[in-house]
Amino acid sequence: MTQTLTLRRPDDWHLHLRDGDMLRAVLPHTATHFARAIIMPNLVPPVVRGADAAAYRERILAALPEGSDFTPLMTLYLTEDTDADDVAAAHASGLITAVKLYPAGATTNSASGVSNFDKVAPVLDRMADIGLPLCTHGEVTDPAVDIFDREAVFIDRVMDPLRKRHAGLKIVMEHITTADAVDYVRTADANLGATITTHHLVINRNHILAGGIKPHYYCLPVAKRETHRLALRAAATSGDARFFLGTDSAPHTDANKLLPCGCAGCFTAPNTMSILPEVFEQDGALQHLEAFTSLNGPAFYGLHANEDTLTLTKTPAAYPGHIDTPEGPVTVFDPMMPLNWSVSRD
Ligand code: NCD
Ligand code: ZN
Repeated sequence: MTQTLTLRRPDDWHLHLRDGDMLRAVLPHTATHFARAIIMPNLVPPVVRGADAAAYRERILAALPEGSDFTPLMTLYLTEDTDADDVAAAHASGLITAVKLYPAGATTNSASGVSNFDKVAPVLDRMADIGLPLCTHGEVTDPAVDIFDREAVFIDRVMDPLRKRHAGLKIVMEHITTADAVDYVRTADANLGATITTHHLVINRNHILAGGIKPHYYCLPVAKRETHRLALRAAATSGDARFFLGTDSAPHTDANKLLPCGCAGCFTAPNTMSILPEVFEQDGALQHLEAFTSLNGPAFYGLHANEDTLTLTKTPAAYPGHIDTPEGPVTVFDPMMPLNWSVSRD
């Protein structure tokens, strides 16, 4: 008998959709499996004010395939000039679900991010008052700090002081990559959650660097050594409500990845829902897959889990190596293992 697994429809709590032609090319790959996604605001220029998020939301809705019921959950990009009233109004109208903190210079299109945390303290206090979560890219940008240590140092230098200063603020540590972050989240109160990407459950830094450089495995935060990957696997597959899926699917054209200074990002939207059951099955934890993909995220954000479902069938799944976009091909993340779970909508 064919083995099947029915899950509440999943959500993606960290997604890059881009804009224009790229948006139209990548959005269907998310909308076909996921009901909702937290949409990253790192466009050029970034989505800073409520009006920017409203306009971006309209462009996303216009790019959806006919009949799609996908809901984009919008975010604002926190800058040192962010206006707390504008943020509160965007939240009150239901337009935004979170605010995103990028340390200035930490990653793709983060030049307008935060350097001086005193300047954003009034906005963060207001967010704590109104229950609006802060999503964080948790890496320091100090050039003296080794890139593999930037997440752990961020916890000490930025995250811990921030949580003490804004005790009531709900914070998501996004795309965590270290055992340090897993341990930190486990010992924190219920105001702290963390997303984990698909690719960080699969690759370690050897996959990027050993036997030739593999730009398609380069993303930020960069994958760490194997012990960290195993800590992420243990956290994701544990069922612990503080950990949930944020794919960080981040499409870049091959032309932009395969450069002397290539872009960071793995494009995992198409095949995430076949990769994750493989990962959970390998770890004997299929019974916790739904918590990770469909229950823990909504619970953290104070939203209902989706009513509709997604069915996974134990039958080989095939995905293209790349998708074509008007801007050029975008390589789909290669998990380097056969995918034995196929996805269908009910
Ligand atoms: C993201 C992108 O391309 O926008 N890249 C990545 O490697 N994850 C930016 C980010 O989320 O850091
Ligand atoms: Zn991201």
